[in-house]
Amino acid sequence: MLQLSTIDPIKSKLTALAIPVAEDKNLHRDPKINAIVKKSKQFKEFKGAKDDTITHYEPYGLNSQRVLLIGVGKADEITLDQLRVMGGRIVKAAIGRDLTEIAILVPSTKNIKFDPEDTISAIGEGARLANYRFDKYRKPKHHPLKRIKLVLGTTAKPRYRSLITKINTICEGTIQARNWVNTPANDKTPAVFAGSIKKLAQKTGLKIDVRDERWLKKEGFNTMLAVAQGSQNRPRLLVLRHQPKGAKQTVALIGKGVTFDAGGINLKPTGSIETMKCDMSGAAAVAAILITAARLKLKTSLVGVIPIVENMPSGTAIRPGDIVKTWAGKTVEIGNTDAEGRLILIDAMAWAIDTFAPKVTIDMATLTGACVVALGEKIAGVFSSDDTLADDLIRAGDYTHERCWRMPLPEDYKEQLKSKVADTGNIGTTRWGGAITAALFLSEFVKDTRWAHIDIAGPAFLNKGGAYGESGATGFGVRLIYRLLETIRGI
Ligand code: BES
Ligand code: MN
Ligand code: ZN
Repeated sequence: MLQLSTIDPIKSKLTALAIPVAEDKNLHRDPKINAIVKKSKQFKEFKGAKDDTITHYEPYGLNSQRVLLIGVGKADEITLDQLRVMGGRIVKAAIGRDLTEIAILVPSTKNIKFDPEDTISAIGEGARLANYRFDKYRKPKHHPLKRIKLVLGTTAKPRYRSLITKINTICEGTIQARNWVNTPANDKTPAVFAGSIKKLAQKTGLKIDVRDERWLKKEGFNTMLAVAQGSQNRPRLLVLRHQPKGAKQTVALIGKGVTFDAGGINLKPTGSIETMKCDMSGAAAVAAILITAARLKLKTSLVGVIPIVENMPSGTAIRPGDIVKTWAGKTVEIGNTDAEGRLILIDAMAWAIDTFAPKVTIDMATLTGACVVALGEKIAGVFSSDDTLADDLIRAGDYTHERCWRMPLPEDYKEQLKSKVADTGNIGTTRWGGAITAALFLSEFVKDTRWAHIDIAGPAFLNKGGAYGESGATGFGVRLIYRLLETIRGI
């Protein structure tokens, strides 16, 4: 799909060549390319400003049928994400013209301030991710490009080939996560979703256990089972392991897998319930990360623990006021059945920490509407008492543009979780700070391991699409965590 190309962009017969252009500096070395850029800037509609485009057909001096120039603004002000956006725009323009492939000329001079690796990654990611649409359930089908060629010149270094394979694989992981999240809940009951993950994971050499209700009962995952008990569709717990030789420390990833969150007896109202098929986005990201890590032979040992349930109201559903004993032994009074994510996570997390003794544990969950109120739709909340881990996550977020913002874990807010009748309640006593009380609730079940919680309720699923993702599922977390695993300190 994404390919490295060492063709000569002048002489090759291409159907379409895309050329990034800065407002103020040359981004390419070849004089013929720079001549066509210069000529284009004589037209008043094209100055190389951000998002300017101009197309030339059969331009003089080049062998391409079409040359699409795309502006990126002033060279010094370009960000990595603008390169991603540019890659996305190019692919969408090519799809709009019904092409089957595009060649993108990657900037090659010192005038671009990024390493070649970062430049290639950003353009490649934007292009690859924009080539996706969720059209399984509709006609007419969208025609994605068959090939996206990144033109790196005839002297491109061989190591860029493996870099492009890596970008492609990470993007495919992201797209897999999007597909799972976009699938409607009637086609992804816990059993079906677990089966789909298992099928893919098996091909990659991951070790997989799919645990059913009997096992969960025997092991005492009572809070997870309490959430599951209102639905006809029975729960599953998935355990995926990536164990490269020589790796000593394990990172545990836990993903919230609520295939549909109706809210339970505290039923969600119209306006909040419609998109709740997205409530397994953490699970989808964790599964996709493990699959990606296995494909790319990541050196770190990983375990993915994924509790999957459906949260429904029914005659068998848990009620507000019910008291349940967690896997870890504490009792929880259910103050609100719609605060279900934390209930399935604490059992999965406490069990994972006890069973695998991970060095670092990270959970990803579409946990609270409050986090969306705080940070909006595009930024995730990071909660951790480990400064190094929080920093590493935020830096990985800056790099991938899967943005994270650190939120506090104030000790005194724990008071809000107190219950009069059980060891703890599952919701805070006030309306305020809901993302924080949810995170504090989780923090009671992680002992003293290095732990971070990422609330992805905002960025997992968007109302409005962007340049390299349509509306709906984003696959948030796959690129972020892969980058984190490559840069994390203390592992
Ligand atoms: N799945 C929701 C959170 C959510 C909200 C995800 C918006 C994606 C978009 C979660 O289970 C939930 O219902 N949280 C409640 C908690 C409350 C009952 C304490 C919320 O945020 O309202
Ligand atoms: Mn809920
Ligand atoms: Zn939920």
